[in-house]
Amino acid sequence: MQESFKAFRVHAGKEFERAGLESLTLNDLSPGGVVIKVEYSSVNYKDALAGTGQGKILRKSPLNGGIDLAGVVVSSESDQFKAGQSVLVNGSGLSEVHDGGYSQYARVPADWIVPMPIGLNAKTSMIIGTAGFTAALAIQRLQDNHQTPDQGPILVTGATGGVGSFAVQLLAQLGYEVIAMTRKQQQHDYLYSLGASTVVNSDVMKVDDASMHKGLWGGAIDNLGGDTLAWLTKSVKPWGNIVSIGMASGVNVNTSAMPFILRGISLLGVTSAACPQTLRKQVWQKLGNELLPGKLDQVCNAEVSLEQLPEAFSNLLDGKICGRQLVWLQIK
Ligand SMILES: NC(=O)c1ccc[n+]([C@@H]2O[C@H](COP(=O)([O-])OP(=O)(O)OC[C@H]3O[C@@H](n4cnc5c(N)ncnc54)[C@H](OP(=O)(O)O)[C@@H]3O)[C@@H](O)[C@H]2O)c1
Repeated sequence: MQESFKAFRVHAGKEFERAGLESLTLNDLSPGGVVIKVEYSSVNYKDALAGTGQGKILRKSPLNGGIDLAGVVVSSESDQFKAGQSVLVNGSGLSEVHDGGYSQYARVPADWIVPMPIGLNAKTSMIIGTAGFTAALAIQRLQDNHQTPDQGPILVTGATGGVGSFAVQLLAQLGYEVIAMTRKQQQHDYLYSLGASTVVNSDVMKVDDASMHKGLWGGAIDNLGGDTLAWLTKSVKPWGNIVSIGMASGVNVNTSAMPFILRGISLLGVTSAACPQTLRKQVWQKLGNELLPGKLDQVCNAEVSLEQLPEAFSNLLDGKICGRQLVWLQIK
């Protein structure tokens, strides 16, 4: 393997200092028993926050960015993995407490690694990445709590984002009617092409002090939090489930106990970073098999190099991206 290699490194102690390309050696990387030659990573909302200093993601500094990675094992101290094996890692502390996937090589504990599912490869697994994995986890939570298609349509908020794009297409593949909510007037066709049966603008949302509105959705997958999540609790039909994934538009949720008590609704959480490893492997296996997203090409918006990451981050945070940006690490 190369003695030195490129990585996109973030320096953010109490305050954000800088982020950019650096030349590293294996000894610079966080410890771990398995060395991986990274082929692909991806750009998630959290990566953009970490790489621009707009959110405090790193709990240790400096660290290579990138909460996702996929590639080939170079060496392993663990019996679970052998050189040449194709693997992926998502969440688990990457770019929070451990060097992440924006690096040509990574070194991680064996317990964090997922063998590449049959049906996926490094590239397709990273088009899916944490976004698709989280959408699949959210759907798992809905189904575990008995959400069925006959309860009515599932509303997906922040629908053109990475998680939203996968939530729309996976729900549609599973036979749910999907209503996609977006700020992007010009991207309605994109959402219909992924399987939404209806697309609504974010201005359908009501922000008021009412305890409840008319029940409109069978359930919801919410990427936004804040007022949006409060409104969803008031507008989901009896026994519906809401999965709270993100807080792109707000942290505090102003609602009441009324919809929980009078309509029996449930609010379910998802954390992809701290997902138990057994469940993580099961969900990835499904993503390579019965839940394989059928429209990966449509969801992959761009392929970017490490050098292009700052622009990729601003495009995502400025709302210019639909779907996913894939990051390639080795010479193409
Ligand atoms: N819980 C978990 O484990 C987990 C895992 C992954 C991601 N997340 C969170 O889930 C959310 C989505 O992640 P992602 O990677 O899919 O991000 P993304 O690609 O940037 O998608 C977020 C989408 O939300 C909408 N949006 C963004 N900022 C907004 C704002 N200020 N007001 C209203 N709408 C806004 C946009 O959709 P439209 O333009 O279509 O409305 C945007 O495309 C983020 O909050 C992220 O931190 C959580």
